[in-house]
Amino acid sequence: MKKNKIICVVGTRPEAIKMAPIILGLKSSPFFEVIVVATAQHRELLDGVFRDFAILADIDLNLMRPNQDLVELNAHLLLELSKVFESVRPDAVLAQGDTTTVFAASLVCFYKKIPFGHVEAGLRTGNFLSPFPEEMNRVFTSKISKWHFAPTQSACNNLISEGVLAQDIFIVGNSVIDSLLIKSRNKIELDSINLDPNKKLILVTVHRRENFGEPLVSICNAINEIVGSNDNVQVLISVHPNPNTKNTIQTYCSNSQRIILSDPLEYSQFVGVMNRAHIILSDSGGIQEEAPALGKPLLVLRKETERPESLKSGTVKLIGTEKNAIVTEVSKLLNDQDYYLSLAKKSYPYGDGNTSKAIVDILINYFQ
Ligand code: UD1
Ligand code: UDP
Repeated sequence: MKKNKIICVVGTRPEAIKMAPIILGLKSSPFFEVIVVATAQHRELLDGVFRDFAILADIDLNLMRPNQDLVELNAHLLLELSKVFESVRPDAVLAQGDTTTVFAASLVCFYKKIPFGHVEAGLRTGNFLSPFPEEMNRVFTSKISKWHFAPTQSACNNLISEGVLAQDIFIVGNSVIDSLLIKSRNKIELDSINLDPNKKLILVTVHRRENFGEPLVSICNAINEIVGSNDNVQVLISVHPNPNTKNTIQTYCSNSQRIILSDPLEYSQFVGVMNRAHIILSDSGGIQEEAPALGKPLLVLRKETERPESLKSGTVKLIGTEKNAIVTEVSKLLNDQDYYLSLAKKSYPYGDGNTSKAIVDILINYFQ
């Protein structure tokens, strides 16, 4: 039987987390030959996820450079992916999300007339500058895609309103829930992290370009104030290696036993830490999808979101980056138990963990 060749392109941590169950699903099907192409837009963060899911890259472009420039990164991605697609000659290419890797992969597919499947299609804030450059990457990639794997009805509606044909859109949920549920099945050891069992854990991640500079300083100041005025609180910051984030956090967050600055955690461990957390503060996209499934109150450190389902779930609140707003919202969650419990409810707006199976079935249907 001739197998169809599918290239899965993966560049950064969240792409690897969300593509992992799809890659594993395609590999377990007799119909496909799967070629995993790591652009390594992220190096250590990508390696960590591949290790965690026991995935090996078939081709590794090793493109990350320190504090890389978007134009340079994109230029390298276009040239290198073009060579790979030329030599492998895939029947289809899949990529997830809105990073520079995904945009470049879709553009090379357009030039080479290769069908492109976009995982997590249709997310929009409507503001090209927020998130930057991701919103524009999403729009460009949607113009090129053959299959639009939309996580929700509202993502599907966004695509329809931009002229995508309904027959090309498949509402499949978000594969991050597949990964989250896979990793939640096992007991996760957190001994290596110095967590105080008697303190309420506030987990923090920040990395968005819109938050570089003053907004990030304001977030650090809020964290210092929260820790200073609540003895029963411990904060764990998983520090993103982007120097624009890392240097600011290291400079502005107080050196306190109750503020732990941690290297990024491998996904299994991070799932364990999210489960252990009382409150999460983050500007991450993926964590907005995970928090409702875990029933963990998440305060989103951004002005707008492309994930309205998270807000509707009630578990997630959009609060911006202003210091007083962060301190006020966290204090309310710490001090008002009824309010806390009204947010801390599990729900599954992004599906129940069957997204990767749905995508694999759609591709089998198409090719067979
Ligand atoms: C990228 C994506 C963003 C995504 C985020 C997930 C773009 C433009 N940005 O942002 O959409 O939400 O990843 O985390 O595609 N670095 C390391 N080691 C790593 C990873 C990064 O040292 O494993 C440092 C390097 O100095 C690198 C810099 O971070 O140059 C920036 O990486 P880049 O992928 O360009 O941007 P992110 O901010 O990570
Ligand atoms: N994550 C992780 N380790 C960490 C911090 C985050 O594995 O130390 C996971 C998190 O659970 C989520 C994903 O990384 O699934 C989010 O990645 P990130 O915030 O870097 O990117 P975004 O989702 O904003 O694009």
